Amino acid sequence: MRKLYILTIAILLGLGGCVSDTFERDQLDLDLMVAVQSTSPTNDLAYYVIPQSTELSKIPQDPRNPLTPTKVELGSFLFFETGMGIVPENAAGMQSYSCSSCHVPAADFKPGRKQGIGEGGFGFGFKGESRVKHSAYEEAQMDVQGIRPLSVLNVAFSAENTLWNGSFGSAGANEGLEDIFGVHDEATDLNHLGFHGLETQNIEGFEIHRLLMTPELADELGYTSYFDEAFPEYTGEERYSNLTASLAISAYLRTITTSEAPFQKWLQGDMGAMSNSEKRGALLFFGKANCSSCHSSPAFSATRFFALGVNDLDDQISFKEDAETRKKNLGRGGFTGRQEDMFKFKVPHLYNLQGTSFYFHGSSKRSLEEVVEYFDVAIPENPDVPAEAIASEFRPLNMTDEEKADLVAFLKFGLQDPTVEKYMPTALPSGNCYPNADSSSKRDIGCE
Ligand code: HEC
Ligand code: HEC
Repeated sequence: MRKLYILTIAILLGLGGCVSDTFERDQLDLDLMVAVQSTSPTNDLAYYVIPQSTELSKIPQDPRNPLTPTKVELGSFLFFETGMGIVPENAAGMQSYSCSSCHVPAADFKPGRKQGIGEGGFGFGFKGESRVKHSAYEEAQMDVQGIRPLSVLNVAFSAENTLWNGSFGSAGANEGLEDIFGVHDEATDLNHLGFHGLETQNIEGFEIHRLLMTPELADELGYTSYFDEAFPEYTGEERYSNLTASLAISAYLRTITTSEAPFQKWLQGDMGAMSNSEKRGALLFFGKANCSSCHSSPAFSATRFFALGVNDLDDQISFKEDAETRKKNLGRGGFTGRQEDMFKFKVPHLYNLQGTSFYFHGSSKRSLEEVVEYFDVAIPENPDVPAEAIASEFRPLNMTDEEKADLVAFLKFGLQDPTVEKYMPTALPSGNCYPNADSSSKRDIGCE
């Protein structure tokens, strides 16, 4: 055993020598390398390296929607384009919301509040935290959902099956489930198109979020030439449609990665990128605390589903009585209808957790300290979830206070890429205000 250990270190030193000679690799770095390597399916550190947004060929993609720079650029505008909000439920909301109303860059692409509000919201604050119900709206008219929005950062690494229940996409975990597409969850009929989950979901996203793209609108907002360059293979009206707009958005979302996080730098040889506390936390993550057994992709997401028994979303808005919402609380089971999938949710990525302080699918935890405590004690909090559904890996970890603090430091600082706001365009071709364009948001954002 010991021999193997020394051998591994020798190999690691040999490999890494060229990357950084400036920093002493102390024992902590060596131990961490061994731990990271031992969990890597390719047995190396490179597995966990997240490509930069411009390294298109290295980013996981849907063969039916290959990444091109022009598509990505178009998508980077459309994701924020409030001008596409031309099919609102209430005319008061006309052209005032966008995808990014609920996926705010300054909040690490989450809504900045417990529950996202698209159409029917009013105001923005600094990062979406001040968005409230518009007074002209009935609650039932608002675009809100009964579950916390997922971040769209690093979505490329779990794009085969999107949403907390993984219901979108024909491949990955949904292979073999063709017979139930559209059965328990009507929207999943779209899986028959054969795209990955991300591409499929964003087609549906236009309907749900009351957005529309047409040749006339593309022209009016200044996007015609962008569509021409990005989608030469589509002809006629289809070139400027919800389909191409959502494919462009999917392409863009695949490129918004957290490649500049300290742990990413450490993986590539910058041993000084993380503090000793963060490194000790990482050691726990890959070792004793067993976090990486579920959080297993390069971004620590996975298209696998587990029940941790956390509480469901409980916010002020009337969505709670909605049947679709109640189904969301069943997690994967709400999609498949299978008993063994009940209350299981997709493993989310773990980068950039600082942008908002709402954790788990129901926003039931308000800090990373609380999250780590929940995993340490491992007592489910949701009485609706039967004990036999709970993941067997969810068991007490008996960490010391120092260990918990180290694990929090790794999550909080080691995995935080401080540069992700660079993915927000500096202006839209249409000149519109974004992420929102209601009068209160415009004042907050400085558009007028
Ligand atoms: C009203 C707020 C809201 C708006 C507006 C919104 N989203 Fe979301 N988004 C959510 C919520 C909530 C979820 C999680 C839903 C679920 O899992 O059931 C989500 C999930 C996602 C995911 C899944 C990520 C993953 O890891 O599975 C993607 C991708 C996404 N949204 C993209 C978009 C795009 C593109 C648009 C515009 C077309 C958009 N969103 C508009 C709230 C919103
Ligand atoms: C059994 C598999 C499993 C293990 C082990 C596990 N997780 Fe998770 N983790 C999940 C799932 C599934 C969720 C989403 C649960 C939900 O919201 O219903 C999650 C959610 C999280 C979140 C919240 C992310 C967000 O966006 O809200 C954090 C943070 C997290 N895990 C960190 C950890 C840490 C740290 C460990 C190790 C102590 C760990 N996880 C161990 C499966 C696991």
